[in-house]
Amino acid sequence: MDNFQQVSMMDTVPGVPEPRKRKIKCELYNDNFQNFKRYGIPKAQLVIADIPYNIGTNFYGSNPMWYKGGDNANGESRLAGKAAFNSDFNFNIVEYFHFCNRLLKKEPEKSNGRGKSSDAPCMIVFCSFQQISMLIETAKQYGFKHNIPLTFIKRNSAQALKANMRIVGATEHAVLLYRDKLPKFRNVGADGKNHMVFDWFEWQRDSKKEYAKIHPTQKPIAVLKKLIEIFTDPGDVVIDPCAGSGSTLRAAYELGRSCYGFEISRDFCRQAWAEMLPPEAET
Ligand SMILES: C[S@@+](CC[C@H](N)C(=O)[O-])C[C@H]1O[C@@H](n2cnc3c(N)ncnc32)[C@H](O)[C@@H]1O
Repeated sequence: MDNFQQVSMMDTVPGVPEPRKRKIKCELYNDNFQNFKRYGIPKAQLVIADIPYNIGTNFYGSNPMWYKGGDNANGESRLAGKAAFNSDFNFNIVEYFHFCNRLLKKEPEKSNGRGKSSDAPCMIVFCSFQQISMLIETAKQYGFKHNIPLTFIKRNSAQALKANMRIVGATEHAVLLYRDKLPKFRNVGADGKNHMVFDWFEWQRDSKKEYAKIHPTQKPIAVLKKLIEIFTDPGDVVIDPCAGSGSTLRAAYELGRSCYGFEISRDFCRQAWAEMLPPEAET
C-alpha cells in the first residue's frame, strides 16, 4: 500500500439534533479506484463522478489556453497538444461500472408506499455529449437499465476559438443511471412543498474566495450540492471514484454525508488535502 494516503475526519451531521447525531466520515485515497477492496469502504447511496473524456492530447483543442495569452496570433502556449491529466487516454469504462455495481447499495426489496420515492441508489456520471450513448449502453450490461440525461447550462463558453464562424459549446452533460426502481428523490423546497426538478440545471460557478481552483475540469460545489441533496439524505454515503480536486467530497461533507474518493494523481490529492478538504481533515 505504498501509494496509500488518506485523510479522515469524523464529525457530526450538521442540522441533525441530538440524540440522532451520526458520525460522518471523509476519506480521499491516492490510488486507483480499481483497488477499492483495500479500503473496506461502505456501500453508497450515490456514486457521482466526472470521468476522463479520453480525448488525450486534444484537451485544450477548442480552448484559448492552447495559444499564448489566448490569442492565436501569439503562437502556441505550453498547453498546446497536451492532455489535462495522464489518464485522459485510456480510462477503462468497464472497470468503472464494475466498481459502481459493487459499491452502490442494493435495490431495496420493499417500496416506501404508493406515490413515494424508493430508497434505491443511483449514480451520476458527468461526461462529454459524445460519451452519453456509450455510457448508457455499457451501463445496461451492469444492470443499470434506466437513465435520465442531465444538461447544465453555462453563461459563457471556453470555446472562444473561431467563435465568429460556429456555434460554441456552453453546456455540460451528465447521465443519471439506476437499476430498476426510481432512486431516492428529495424534492421538498425550503417552503416545505414538493417542487418539480427539471433535467437541466444552471452551472452555478463557485467563488474562488470560497473554494480553491485545483483541477482543469473541476465541477462547481454549488452544482454538486444540488445533486447530492436530491438523491441522498444526511448520513448517507457518497463516493467519487475519480475525485480530482475533491470537490464532490467537500460538497457531500458540507451537507453531512459521509464521502469517499479515489484519485490517482498524487499532485491533485496533495492539493485536495491542503486546499479543498476541511482543515480538520488533515491527519
Ligand atoms: C475529469 S477529472 C475529475 C475532476 C473532478 N470532478 C473535480 O471536480 O475536480 C477525472 C480525474 O480522474 C482521475 N482518474 C483517472 N483514472 C482514475 C482511476 N482509475 N482511479 C482514480 N482516479 C482516476 C484523473 O487523475 C482525474 O483527476
